[in-house]
Amino acid sequence: MLNREDNELLTRTGADTPMGQLVRRFWIPVLLSAELAEPDCPPKKVKVMGEDLLAFRDTTGRVGLVEPTCPHRGANLYFGRNEECGLRCVFHGLKFDVDGNCVDTACTTRCVGNRACNRLPVKKPSSAAGSNVAANGSSPA
Ligand code: FES
Repeated sequence: MLNREDNELLTRTGADTPMGQLVRRFWIPVLLSAELAEPDCPPKKVKVMGEDLLAFRDTTGRVGLVEPTCPHRGANLYFGRNEECGLRCVFHGLKFDVDGNCVDTACTTRCVGNRACNRLPVKKPSSAAGSNVAANGSSPA
């Protein structure tokens, strides 16, 4: 039986824990590709190792996995519209592609800067969309 310290070491997977940093070096299956059945379908909430994420499939079929909070004013992108190769925030209309880049500033009158969503790398094996949740953007093994 593990002592308390070893149990904590092995079971805590937050981004700032040793086990969390180890696990984030590898691809982690997060959802079945079928859960994002068609282009521009509604985004899907995903929770991996305690991190809330948002998965969506764009018009061309590419899958994106981003933090659900809009970098502009913090609106939840889950309520955004998935349209024309991007997820559009319903609050002020910024649109983000699957790489997290802001591709349209829509109706915002002032420049909001070059904001981008935090995104996570995604690869799609035969039947599942897998992702590494590394916060530092490094490529997983
Ligand atoms: S909060 Fe999303 S565009 Fe302003």
